[in-house]
Amino acid sequence: MSSLFNGAGFFPEVIRFAAKGKTFLMPAQKSTFAGDVDGLFYFIYWISIFFFVLILGLLILFLMKYKRGKGREAEETAQHSTSLELVWSVIPFLLVIVIFVMGFRGFINMHTPPDNAYEVRVHGQKWSWAFTYPNGYVDSELHVPVNTPIKITLSAEDVLHSFFVPDFRVKRDAVPGRYTVCWFEAMEAGESPIYCAEYCGTGHSEMLSKVIVHEPGGFEKWLETAADFIKTMPPEEAGKVVYTKRGCGQCHSIDGTAGIGPTFKGLYGISQPIVGGASVPVDDNFIRESILQPAAKVAAGYDPVMPTFQGRIKNAEIDVLIAYIKSLK
Ligand code: CUA
Repeated sequence: MSSLFNGAGFFPEVIRFAAKGKTFLMPAQKSTFAGDVDGLFYFIYWISIFFFVLILGLLILFLMKYKRGKGREAEETAQHSTSLELVWSVIPFLLVIVIFVMGFRGFINMHTPPDNAYEVRVHGQKWSWAFTYPNGYVDSELHVPVNTPIKITLSAEDVLHSFFVPDFRVKRDAVPGRYTVCWFEAMEAGESPIYCAEYCGTGHSEMLSKVIVHEPGGFEKWLETAADFIKTMPPEEAGKVVYTKRGCGQCHSIDGTAGIGPTFKGLYGISQPIVGGASVPVDDNFIRESILQPAAKVAAGYDPVMPTFQGRIKNAEIDVLIAYIKSLK
């Protein structure tokens, strides 16, 4: 099956040509199958426009032509016509078959990654994306090489999310408790936004990231050095990188404003009132526990919405994160 459906550009060239490049309704086409998606979209779009104008035009014409007027009573003008009925049944039927076959082939292609694809695992949680590379490195942004098929294996921590890259025409749900797969091949180096396309709670509209497409050779270089930041930076600075990469900032501000969770500014060392009435000192152990078992002690006045990072974060990352929170006086 894969040989029949894999690869882009199996739509007739005439249909792909209906939508070359960036158009009024669509962003730039930056993946190999973006032309197929737009081609089919505009094929349906122009068919709809054609029949809308034709049917509405005839309606208005007949309204005027057969209008009841002075000295003119209503009259029967149309008889049954088998040939006419056949024409307006068979033509739409054929068009719908064409649309179905093209749509089905495109759908199967977009859900069948080529065997040689490079795999990145994508984990969605309230309210950030985590991208895990084959060497175990986790980042909050998706880095990929250009002109290479990328297989995306999606999972979700808590609720439904949806991985959406408009420039690539890629959208797939991330479902708790199962893996879903999509793929794409970027055609040019550059950046494209990633959205969450499934309403997932308060921070849904903030659940953003981006794809960085590297020039040939650039991706391997990036992946080699990206994971080394904890060894090469001072702990507070490395902690700030972890704060950004792990999406802490979606809920915890660093400027004193309260978000979905408490701000990190001036947090370290205070006595934090928790749900249930007690207060606990914010020290290294409290922060570590709050990352690994967020439900154990919930800050008073906040909802217990933080997902656990148990098994998903390294001790070295927790260490530098504590150092960073400590530095936010
Ligand atoms: Cu995640 Cu919307």
